[in-house]
Amino acid sequence: MEKGATNLNRFLIEEQRAFPEATGDFTMLIESIAFASKIISREVNKAGIVNIIGKAQSVNVHGEEQQKLDVYADRKMIEAMDHLGKLCAMASEENDEVIQVPKEYPKGKYLAVFDPLDGSSNIDVNISIGTIFGIYKRQDGETGTPCCKDFMQPGRKIVAAGYVIYGSSTMMVYSAGNGVHGFTLDPSIGEYILSHPYMKIPETGKIYSINEANYHKWDEPTRKFVEHIKNHSEREYTARYIGSLVADFHRNLLKGGVFLYPGDEKNKRGKLRLLYECAPLAYIIENAGGMATNGVQDILDIVPETLHQKEPLIIGSKYEVETYLKYQRGE
Ligand code: AHG
Ligand code: MN
Ligand code: MN
Ligand code: MN
Repeated sequence: MEKGATNLNRFLIEEQRAFPEATGDFTMLIESIAFASKIISREVNKAGIVNIIGKAQSVNVHGEEQQKLDVYADRKMIEAMDHLGKLCAMASEENDEVIQVPKEYPKGKYLAVFDPLDGSSNIDVNISIGTIFGIYKRQDGETGTPCCKDFMQPGRKIVAAGYVIYGSSTMMVYSAGNGVHGFTLDPSIGEYILSHPYMKIPETGKIYSINEANYHKWDEPTRKFVEHIKNHSEREYTARYIGSLVADFHRNLLKGGVFLYPGDEKNKRGKLRLLYECAPLAYIIENAGGMATNGVQDILDIVPETLHQKEPLIIGSKYEVETYLKYQRGE
């Protein structure tokens, strides 16, 4: 490792020192998620060679056909954390129910939520995909077998969140509330190296990201907002839509802009899931100086009612998100 390079472990230890009450539970959790992501990255990067692309002949709670890599990534995330004694339960896109810690292992005070593989429809066509995760603390006084109720916490209660993007390089971006930091995987040594400290999204950008095939199903304010962006008098926007939330989000975080997956007349609450897609990314974007809304309220203020609840998501630079909200409020 070049002199002065900071790897993830060193960064977490330094950050832990800034919080005297930190016990290291947290460092261990993030390190374990990083380990799982290295294994997933290895499989993603040779998906065409080994028999891990294609369908797993199973369907998840959303009625989505599970890809083999969905199921594989889910397994790796669970195995990386279930024995640490730091978690009392997990929730994942690919598991209908709450995932309990095996009884042979001690329970901890944290709850982990994750989308083990985001953008699955892009696996077989070699387009960037990702993993999204969030960490909560179990509410004080809650004892007994963890259940859905433990996860019904607003994103404001997140203690850390992040994502991994399996793209031209593999990058982990995470925040524990003290800035947003990006680490790039150096596969030659298997280490995540700090490459993007204190990431901030530009106040405004030139990119809008939305699936325009749904145009005729959107509500009027959404259609008006997109028309406003397309005919903007002062700036030239460009449309970018990858179809992997993590990839669209990451590009906008770096360059500025807005991603929208609004509700529509067919899917009133949109397609993205609050607990393990919208809330963790909303936590990241707010820590990077941006905004995230469902069109009515901040994503981080929404208290989930069910584990796999869907929520419209408008997320990115302040100027574009605030402009969208003006259209929704009819201003
Ligand atoms: P996942 O692969 O975890 O189910 O998520 C897919 C999501 C998200 O990654 C992306 O933004 C969205 O699906 C794309 O949906 P459309 O194809 O309907 O645009
Ligand atoms: Mn899915
Ligand atoms: Mn997803
Ligand atoms: Mn997924």
